[in-house]
Amino acid sequence: MLSGDINTSWAPSSWREKPVTQDVAYEDKEKVEQVLDKLVHLPPLVCPREIQTLREQLKDVALGKAFLLQGGDCAESFDYCSQQPIESKLKILLQMSLVLTWGARIPVVRIARMAGQYAKPRSKPTEMHEGVEIASFRGDNINGFNPSDRKPDPERLVSAYFHSAATMNYVRSILNSGFADLHRPTEWDIQYINSTAIREEYQTIINRLTDALNYMQIIGADQPQTPSTLNSVDLFMSHEGLMLPFEEALTRYLPDPVNGGKKWYNTSSHFLWIGDRTRQLNGAHVEYFSGIENPIGIKVGPSMDNEELVRLLNIVNAKKEIGKVTLISRYSATKIDQYLPGHIKAVQESGHVVVWACDPMHGNTEQSSSGVKTRDFTNIIQEISKSIRIHKENGSQLNGIHLELTGDHVTECVGGFMELDHADLSQNYQTFCDPRLNYEQSLDVAFLIAKYYEGARKGVPGI
Ligand code: PEP
Ligand code: CO
Repeated sequence: MLSGDINTSWAPSSWREKPVTQDVAYEDKEKVEQVLDKLVHLPPLVCPREIQTLREQLKDVALGKAFLLQGGDCAESFDYCSQQPIESKLKILLQMSLVLTWGARIPVVRIARMAGQYAKPRSKPTEMHEGVEIASFRGDNINGFNPSDRKPDPERLVSAYFHSAATMNYVRSILNSGFADLHRPTEWDIQYINSTAIREEYQTIINRLTDALNYMQIIGADQPQTPSTLNSVDLFMSHEGLMLPFEEALTRYLPDPVNGGKKWYNTSSHFLWIGDRTRQLNGAHVEYFSGIENPIGIKVGPSMDNEELVRLLNIVNAKKEIGKVTLISRYSATKIDQYLPGHIKAVQESGHVVVWACDPMHGNTEQSSSGVKTRDFTNIIQEISKSIRIHKENGSQLNGIHLELTGDHVTECVGGFMELDHADLSQNYQTFCDPRLNYEQSLDVAFLIAKYYEGARKGVPGI
């Protein structure tokens, strides 16, 4: 398709005519077909109304009326489909959004990298293990992390569906049962925050918030029996749309609850994004993404050319719908100055109104002296603060952040107020792919951004 053309030949399967980057070569092709047949018959995991609600909320984000918090694991494991990991992920996302709302005084739209973030693009198809070359781990829906289990197994796609379904079911169930009830903030556990300063700061926010809520209850502004945003929250799910056969099988032609008619929805998740390695203009992933109704993300790194970015936006969002596309920039703390201004200008001139999110994780991965991958908290904060500043200097606005994080007390990134050192990484290094911010480091990020917005409201510059 030429840029600017409306794609009339699109179908959920039209990506099959295009080159597929990061394709998976299965030995048993017949089994793949059986598995996809099964997936086609399984019910949607999310419905159009939820997708539409997120579209509307992201429109507000793009217009600067709300802020986007997107976060979760780099590679979600099937084993995380369990009560404790789900609860701790929800808890950190909700706590961060409470802090951000407090600072920015605008609503926070929450999207978890969860309930389907199973497939991983890899820089190299193989890796060395004990002197032997083996296939790289591609994510739980493709092969196993265990070195003896690296052969792609089609059955894992069905397994991915059921793990997503069980995760979403539990998330919906606890959110509907008051897990996010801000009236009981004392239940929000902050005991693991080692830093007294942060703990006190957070406690102050909780106390002030509790006070405000009590007051509202006394004057009758917030009746517990009335459904209100104080009793419950929206939390949307997302994953990288990498495994196109899976995404195709979950793509359904369903009624549009707002505008009428029928449209194609990816019902495996509310939001999907295209990775930095699979965003070729003429490639299969871009073709697939150009036809679905869901809000979508595009990772934008140093290899993205200004003109290419605009052509890509024209392909995936020909109608230039506000907030349909979230550009998730991931340059590194040192390269952001070189690339972001050009990208902002190109988008402004194109007439597209996007959500600008900063992913300060993927450009800042480094090798620790012990050989494991890590990220330095200082670089993460620097990329976020530079992003805020560069947007402002260019007549734009940073609308959100995209983080790899976990609610658990892992030791994968160095730095932060808990001053984790390279030597500490081995204490609890758990990730199956990239290093994630732990509970305290995640809250640190939220506090730093919140403080920036609070300062900006009061005329204090800098982050
Ligand atoms: C990711 O988000 O886990 C990822 C692989 O990112 P990117 O495509 O930006 O490298
Ligand atoms: Co990652």
